[in-house]
Amino acid sequence: MALLKILHYPDKRLYTVARPINQVTDEIRQLASDMAETMYAAPGIGLAATQVDRHIQMIIVDVSEKRDDLRVFINPEILASEGEALGEEGCLSVPGIYDKVMRAERVRVRALDLQGEPFELEASGLLGVCIQHEIDHLMGHVFVDYLSRLKQERIKHKLKKQQRETM
Ligand code: NI
Repeated sequence: MALLKILHYPDKRLYTVARPINQVTDEIRQLASDMAETMYAAPGIGLAATQVDRHIQMIIVDVSEKRDDLRVFINPEILASEGEALGEEGCLSVPGIYDKVMRAERVRVRALDLQGEPFELEASGLLGVCIQHEIDHLMGHVFVDYLSRLKQERIKHKLKKQQRETM
């Protein structure tokens, strides 16, 4: 087990498009376990491999209150989406920043599990939002990209300042 370093916005590596995973190996399972440890320690409710500088298509999510419902999605794909919902989001790569983002209200997702078996899931509410947010990371998008230019500049400025202060 290991805690992984989370990239912080506006790090350019967050804009990398992740490759599909050809085979679910022990190495992938180990990465999922390290990502889970990193997410729980942060603490956060979702993490994409992109955020720990591994540019492969894997995301993990746990939106449960007890933090005992870890879900892993390998090569996730949104098959269908429905409705619209505006909700406040945050991101472990954008610490301390929260803002409203429009997402689909309900999504149907297909992915592989840690055994390499395909599954489908219908998700709405926080789980649905979190899955959409994490899949965005795999495509090289951060939620801040949906905000106005002015807000993006303010956030960049604030985070760069924070990074200088903690160096
Ligand atoms: Ni995020």
